[in-house]
Amino acid sequence: MTFLLLRLTSCCFYPTLLLFLTVACSVKSSVKLPPNVTVPALLLFGDSIVDAGNNNNIQTLVKCNFPPYGKDFEGGVPTGRFCNGKVPSDIIAKELGNKDTVPAYLDSTVLPQDLVTGVTFASGGAGFDPLTPKLVELYELGARRIGFFSAPPIGCVPSQRTLAGGAGRKCAENLNEAAKLFNSKLSKKLDSLGSSLPNGRFVYIDVYNLLLDLIQNPKKHGFQVADKGCCGTGDIEVSILCNQYTPVKCANISDHIFWDSYHPTESAYKALVSPLLGQNLNKFF
Ligand SMILES: *[C@@H]1O[C@H](CO)[C@@H](O)[C@H](O)[C@H]1NC(C)=O
Ligand SMILES: *[C@@H]1O[C@H](CO)[C@@H](O)[C@H](O)[C@H]1NC(C)=O
Repeated sequence: MTFLLLRLTSCCFYPTLLLFLTVACSVKSSVKLPPNVTVPALLLFGDSIVDAGNNNNIQTLVKCNFPPYGKDFEGGVPTGRFCNGKVPSDIIAKELGNKDTVPAYLDSTVLPQDLVTGVTFASGGAGFDPLTPKLVELYELGARRIGFFSAPPIGCVPSQRTLAGGAGRKCAENLNEAAKLFNSKLSKKLDSLGSSLPNGRFVYIDVYNLLLDLIQNPKKHGFQVADKGCCGTGDIEVSILCNQYTPVKCANISDHIFWDSYHPTESAYKALVSPLLGQNLNKFF
């Protein structure tokens, strides 16, 4: 069986594709997969949310292979992940019993066995093609299980609060409205594709409401700070603006939802990925 998850990320609706192949084998997963089903391989396509270092080898300003990125990643290695620690691809791989981390395809140390068990092709700042042709590009290639992570409440990331949230740094409501409009169209589109393409399963995964709840009620989810990142002032620093000259100010990164002004912390990614996988996995089977 082949699965594809397409994720739409926090800034500009860039897509992330997650393809996982399932066969019977014996690796332990922490989410409940159907009996006799495991996930030996995981392939991802998308932007900075699931980039594990492809941009290190690409000519772009969207980079993060320097401190303080990776502060909490396997002993403090800046790998090119836009996070203090693991990114969703890593967390999903672990949850599905696939492997601990998913390396970047362009990483020069990637081995043939990595390609077989899973790599990410994602690139921070990647663009977005029209939805329908892309999905039908994938269906024809054999994908039959396609899930989409919805657009998140993009108006609430720290940089958008700073740039568009007024003096009070409130969530930029026009951006959240745009995300909601996009999500309602996405969800309808997936319904109609599901009924028109034989044997296709298209699953809409609602990131918007869970992340908004984390941001509006951080304490309920074990977090303290939801409106600032940990890098520098927390208001604007991201990618090359978050570097060795912008020290990490948070006393406890794990109690913050955002690591930089744009990307969640590893702990916030975990708080999102686990329940969303748990709630939606059965829809693929
Ligand atoms: C799991 O696989 C075993 C061995 O192939 C088979 O006997 C069993 O019926 C399978 N269980 C389910 C629930 O498919
Ligand atoms: C940091 O925050 C996390 C999440 O709220 C909490 O579980 C942990 O105990 C905190 N660590 C310290 C050292 O306060």
